[in-house]
Amino acid sequence: MAGKITQSFIDDLLSRVDIVEVVGRTVTLKKAGRDFQGLCPFHNEKTPSFTVSPEKQFYHCFGCGAHGSAIGFLMNHDSLGFVEAVEDLAGGLHLTVRYETDGAAPTVNYTPLYELMAAAQTCYARLLREHPAKERAVDYLKHRGLTGTVAKAFGLGYAPAGWETLVTQLGVDATRRAQLVEAGLAVPRDNGTFYDRFRDRIIFPILDRRGRCVGLGGRIIDTGEPKYLNSPETPIFHKRQELYGLHYVLKNGRRPGRVLVVEGYMDVVALAQHGVDNAVATLGTATTAEQLELIFRHVAEVVFCFDGDNAGRRAAWRALETVLPLLLEGRKAGFLFLPQGQDPDSLVRSEGAARFGAPAHITPLSKFLFDELAGRADTSSLDGRAQLIALARPLLGKVPVGAFRQLLIQHLEGVAQTRVQMGQAPSYRRPSAPPPMAPRKSGRVPSLLRRAIGLLARQPSLAPLARHLPALDVSSNDEAALLFTLLERLTEHPSMPVGVLLENLRDSPLWPLLEEVLGLPILLEETQWEAEFSGAIEQLLKQRQRQRYRRLVSEKPRAAEIESEPRGVPPD
Ligand code: UTP
Ligand code: MN
Repeated sequence: MAGKITQSFIDDLLSRVDIVEVVGRTVTLKKAGRDFQGLCPFHNEKTPSFTVSPEKQFYHCFGCGAHGSAIGFLMNHDSLGFVEAVEDLAGGLHLTVRYETDGAAPTVNYTPLYELMAAAQTCYARLLREHPAKERAVDYLKHRGLTGTVAKAFGLGYAPAGWETLVTQLGVDATRRAQLVEAGLAVPRDNGTFYDRFRDRIIFPILDRRGRCVGLGGRIIDTGEPKYLNSPETPIFHKRQELYGLHYVLKNGRRPGRVLVVEGYMDVVALAQHGVDNAVATLGTATTAEQLELIFRHVAEVVFCFDGDNAGRRAAWRALETVLPLLLEGRKAGFLFLPQGQDPDSLVRSEGAARFGAPAHITPLSKFLFDELAGRADTSSLDGRAQLIALARPLLGKVPVGAFRQLLIQHLEGVAQTRVQMGQAPSYRRPSAPPPMAPRKSGRVPSLLRRAIGLLARQPSLAPLARHLPALDVSSNDEAALLFTLLERLTEHPSMPVGVLLENLRDSPLWPLLEEVLGLPILLEETQWEAEFSGAIEQLLKQRQRQRYRRLVSEKPRAAEIESEPRGVPPD
């Protein structure tokens, strides 16, 4: 694995990236003075309070406090991880990300693989339109009720029957042929030649959530074995981490109220054909926690669609066990059980979309949980109720602390007719980006130090005004520590824009505080910042003198203390 991304690369990247362009991809921005303004994408508003400053390399919403660099924007808005966000920005500028490789591990560049997958997808889509035998595929899709529009929206393609269609088209030299194998698109023969993995199949491109093709699913036309063939695991394709259709669901920043998890690619496409555009499918495996976490980053409710038969209920139970630990407050899970022998594809074609949109058809997770347990323990007897508790406790114990867990326990206590002790609650750390911020309550007055930090971070040229500030004891005071850290950085790099400063401190324990301070708006014209900052520094100095004085009169001075700066006096 590659190491950390170097700080110098991040600094360099941010200096080249146009944050207005990055944010402008999803937010309509209008120039307003030196900055740009638009409607905040992080909360609902009718008048713009969201500004982007190219100079500061920073965006900030005065309504909800959302803010950050271009990297932060991709992390918060597109739910990318830090490395992904940096890779994304670097890719747009044709830069190769530099990692601290501690000598041993070479950095890996997956760009050729992504490019090859994109080329394969394009090639198969073109063959669906142009190949002499395309009718076979087109007729099959029509017979499954799909129109050209939906086929195009999902980028469906056709891999013709020959052995070397893709190998001939894309395997132009030895390097490319080796890459075709690495991408799982071709298979080497013993004699050194290669053949296509996908032949005579409908091709379903599997896109990651940013729309890059990372793998393919291929359905046999009519009958044959295996019915579906998938790309093998490759450096860019991990079945347990991708969801078929997620890109389509979240396209153009769309955030549906819930996501339906179904079993088949065809189910996703058929549902979309009938206007149900919030379905995703796993890639031939049971739903994983990673996949659910991916959904929950964007959408608060997951609904699992299963057959109502025994196999379907067993699969639903597995999904329940996987989702329980992820049910942080605000998240919800449910089940949509389909009539026996039906899958979403057949059902939406015979019945239409109604069942898939109506909450009335959704079995809440709590109901499914207790219904299943009631089937296993007879609650009419004391012994059965004890058994119920034994079955339920480990399951409820998986749910993160919060209202939902509390209500489940209460319900169990009601059914069991006794108090239920739960033991230690699990500690679960949310691995993804923080949730969208709620609009802030106004009227909070930040402390002197916080005001100074907020101004200084945004306006590095203020740093020299604080040069007379004596060293505070920062050991017990994060705000003082942060102010001095900023002063230090800005002495080294006098014009570092706040976006870059923020990214420089991302790994610091002081980062959350800086984030918090930057979330508060500065309710002053920029022309007044200097006076405000000088004022804050002056007050800090006075405070310190007062504290020093108090110490001198209340304590018996030790010789050393009179001569040097007193230590251990927190300001404020
Ligand atoms: P199903 O066998 O339930 O098929 O596979 P389906 O989705 O109803 O497909 P159609 O309607 O016959 O076309 C569900 C999913 O299981 C995986 C695929 O991801 C498929 O979408 N699968 C199935 C395989 O990976 N390989 C197989 O051979 C079969
Ligand atoms: Mn089917």
